[in-house]
Amino acid sequence: MKIGVAGAGAMGTGIAQVAALAGHKVVVFDPFDNSLKRSATNLDNDFKKLVEKGKLDQAKAEAVRSNIIHAADLNSLAGCSLVIEAAVELLEVKKKLFADLESVVDPHCILATNTSSLSVISIAAACKHRGRVIGIHFFNPASIMPLVEIIPAFTTDESVPVSAKSLIDSWGKVTVMAKDTPGFIVNRIARPFYGEAIKIYEEGVASFADIDHAMRSIGGFRMGPFELMDLIGNDINFSVTETVWKQMFNDPRYRPSITQQRLFEAGLFGRKSGRGYYDYSEGAAKAESTADDLRLQYIFSRILCMLINEAADALYLGIASRDDIETAMTKGVNYPKGLLKWADEIGINKVCDTINKLHGDYQDDRYRTSLLLKKMASENARFFS
Ligand SMILES: NC(=O)c1ccc[n+]([C@@H]2O[C@H](COP(=O)([O-])OP(=O)(O)OC[C@H]3O[C@@H](n4cnc5c(N)ncnc54)[C@H](O)[C@@H]3O)[C@@H](O)[C@H]2O)c1
Repeated sequence: MKIGVAGAGAMGTGIAQVAALAGHKVVVFDPFDNSLKRSATNLDNDFKKLVEKGKLDQAKAEAVRSNIIHAADLNSLAGCSLVIEAAVELLEVKKKLFADLESVVDPHCILATNTSSLSVISIAAACKHRGRVIGIHFFNPASIMPLVEIIPAFTTDESVPVSAKSLIDSWGKVTVMAKDTPGFIVNRIARPFYGEAIKIYEEGVASFADIDHAMRSIGGFRMGPFELMDLIGNDINFSVTETVWKQMFNDPRYRPSITQQRLFEAGLFGRKSGRGYYDYSEGAAKAESTADDLRLQYIFSRILCMLINEAADALYLGIASRDDIETAMTKGVNYPKGLLKWADEIGINKVCDTINKLHGDYQDDRYRTSLLLKKMASENARFFS
């Protein structure tokens, strides 16, 4: 089976590697020569590293690498069974690309987008055969992150998500099904991890180091919110937050923060720029937490309850199934536990009490308890038996 990848950037190159390792012939299309060259070099280096680490032998690495072809001509994608688009995140570029692709590939070819922030249907709208268009959303780096969100749009034919899921599963990835809504599963449910953390900081309740320490030491998260935003990049994280908020028609739950906007405006993107919430320059002192146990517990419980509320609401609104929500958050962003399982452990009544108290204090719709949690609390129900 021949697989096409349109867009030879970070994601397209990673996806090409995954598909080739699964035994496919892969054509990577990009109209820009410099992108094609960079992608080819990065793949050469990646395969070299796989051999050095003993994950592939030399002969196999060469065979797999030779199955990936780079092309600046869209016609090279003819004969593909699936084309995954990973071009720049601009709707007009993607729409034109999809419309052009339709004139190159055969009628049964599935056209997938790896978009993070656009709706799948807005891209499908450019196609004559919208039924074949679907979202297949990999996480960065695509060669390492196990999770892939499969996102059928309103117009996607029923057979397409089934074929897409079984193919991507066969590539060794863990797939979850998501509705075509802003942020899909992970980028929607994870918002309070960042947003509530920044709000706690803005209120002067705690420092970045306190909040990070609380989430690591009590919650068992590998990184705290500020460390993670500095790793992801405040430019990228701010843009995802802003996009989700705008697409949710300014729902206060997803409201971006002035603090992160200022960091973004100042170019304080985090590790990659040498400074974000923390200073990464040579010899800079490491910020330490000074909060007592009571404060750490308050921080942890406020952020965790907001995350659980978001997960419960995603389930209530049919964004994804219970099990897929748990898988998405543990495999896509490495949460130590599924949020719904965590809710059962804490007690759904307690989660509701925490959010109701915040709502009472702030009189802000940001703190509205999911109807599902309210209903479950009144019935003394659990997510898992
Ligand atoms: N980087 C991430 O963390 C991440 C994670 C998941 C999904 N995504 C999504 O994947 C897509 C690509 O992101 P990226 O980080 O690889 O970007 P990137 O900037 O690294 O690569 C984009 C590529 O698109 C190419 N391009 C421009 N116009 C094109 C066209 N008309 N046809 C084909 N290619 C074209 C560029 O030459 C470039 O190589 C975006 O939709 C993004 O939202 C990114």
